[in-house]
Formats: sequence, structure tokens, C-alpha cells
Amino acid sequence: MISEILPFWSKYWHYILITVATYVYVMWKSGKMKSDLQDYDNEMEREIPSEEAEKCASNEEEPALPKDLQHIPYKYQRPSEAEMRKKANEFFEIANARRTLRFFSSDPVPKDVIREIIRAAGTAPSGAHTEPWIFVVISDPATKTQIREIVENEEEINYRKRMGKKWTIDLQPLKTNSMKPYLTTAPYLILVFKQTYGILPNGTRKIHYYNEMSVSIACGILISAIQYAGLVTLTSTPLNCGPALRLLLGRPNNEKLALLLPVGYPAEDATVPALERKPLSDILVEID
Ligand SMILES: Cc1cc2nc3c(=O)[nH]c(=O)nc-3n(C[C@H](O)[C@H](O)[C@H](O)COP(=O)(O)O)c2cc1C
Repeated sequence: MISEILPFWSKYWHYILITVATYVYVMWKSGKMKSDLQDYDNEMEREIPSEEAEKCASNEEEPALPKDLQHIPYKYQRPSEAEMRKKANEFFEIANARRTLRFFSSDPVPKDVIREIIRAAGTAPSGAHTEPWIFVVISDPATKTQIREIVENEEEINYRKRMGKKWTIDLQPLKTNSMKPYLTTAPYLILVFKQTYGILPNGTRKIHYYNEMSVSIACGILISAIQYAGLVTLTSTPLNCGPALRLLLGRPNNEKLALLLPVGYPAEDATVPALERKPLSDILVEID
């Protein structure tokens, strides 16, 4: 029997191998595609409101914005190409000078400047103009101390066990750790909350389409406005601190912490890691 199989195997082994390899590849590929599709579905699920969420809206037949919303002429003055080039370059220089600061001065900053910066952030586009953000500005020293305690306690656990070895190794060159003295040194802390849904005056929920993306854009404008005003900040997303900070600040359930930003002047002896940014050729694909 074996003597019959062996010549067959030795003659056709490459066909058998190709068949088995093709089978394994097809099975792997179909499983991967399924999981890719699942990821896509999950993504869509997060953004397209479910029927149940739709029912939360006060009146399904009425749009959230006024039905008879006026459409007005857009005021616009077209710049010359030379002006455009100058402005685009000026903005690049401003954006390029921005750095994440981890050493702050305690020098006071005028409150109206902070208000104006937040006004700028509030101009961000948002899904169906839902404006799903709220900015909590803290200058009260006692509240800053409480925030620092919450963040440092959680960060101590994050660094010790939640973040994992690779994450903490990747952070080593930036010299970050669980101690966050800037949370009490900086004159302001801005906590950006995203409203995952709105609450209408009659208590029913309003759907906030693409709230994550809308708030991220607002945060980008906020950070740029801070930089443009001549101040500095540190973009931070303190892991596992959201619920405690929300409760401390008396914010409602529909709000989730997106970013925590200390804002102020840099300390006189502040340093920043000498990071390089990707050149344009690495981040731009042009299809003409
Ligand atoms: C979403 C996000 C979360 C971040 N979280 C932290 C943080 O918790 N602590 C910190 O020191 N820096 C944090 N950073 C800052 C990054 O480390 C910093 O942006 C990066 O090293 C690039 O440096 P640059 O901002 O000076 O260009 C965060 C940045 C982003 C965009």
C-alpha cells in the first residue's frame, strides 16, 4: 500500500503542495475580508444612528434645524495668487513653530484671550451643525490640584500596567511619566468634552452625527488658535480619567472627555524634544 502511495507522492507532490497552499490562502483571505468588513460595519455603526437612536429624537418628521432656515449670500473676497501664497506660507510657519510644551510658567494670561481662543474653536464645522462640544476652562487653583491628583493617580497605574511595555518604551525619548506638574503650574486648563448626543429642552435626545470627528476638528482649531495667540499647550488624552474628571466638574452623562490642555506661557528654561517632522513628499499624494 505505502509502496503505491510513495511513487504517487514523489510524482505529484508539487501539485498537492500548490493545492494545499491555495486552499490555506483562500481561507485566510476570506477570514481577513470578513474581519475588515466587520471593522467597516462597526465604524459605520458608530456614525450612522441606529433606529433606536432615531426614536430618541423629539420629532422624527421635524429637522433639528429650523425647517425654513434662510440661505444668505456668502461674503467673499478672492485674494490674488501672490497673496494666497504669502498667507499659506505664513500659516505654515505659525503651525510649524507649534510644539507640545511640558514645562509651563505660572505667569497669568488674560482671560479674554482664552475666551477668544475658544470662540475660534467653536467655529469648527460639525455634522449637521450639531456643535457637539463644550470647553471647560479652569483657573481655580483648588480645582487644578484635584485634577492633577486624579490624573497623576491614573497615570501611575497607566504607566505601571495599563499601557504595556511597548507603549512605555516608545514614550521614553519624550521623557514623559506619571508626574504632571504643569497641571497646577499652567494658569489655565482647558478640558474639551464631546457631547455624544444633545439634550433638547423637552428632555429628549438630539443625535450628534460624527461627534468624534467634529470635536477633533474643533480641537485642531483650538490648538492652532492657542499657537497663533502666542501661547503654548500640551495635547493630552489622560487615559481612564474621563469619568472622574467629568464628575469633578459636574458635567452630564452625555459628555465624554476628549482632550485636556494646559495653556499658558512656556517656562523660561523649557525644553522640547528635537523631533523631525515628515517632509511634504512623505505626506502628500498628488493625482493630477
Ligand atoms: C491625541 C494626542 C494625545 C497626546 N497625549 C499626550 C500625553 O498624554 N502626554 C504628553 O506629554 N504628550 C501627549 N501628546 C503630545 C505628543 O507626544 C506630541 O504631539 C508629539 O510628541 C509631537 O510633538 P509636537 O506636538 O511638539 O509636534 C499627545 C498628542 C496627541 C495628538
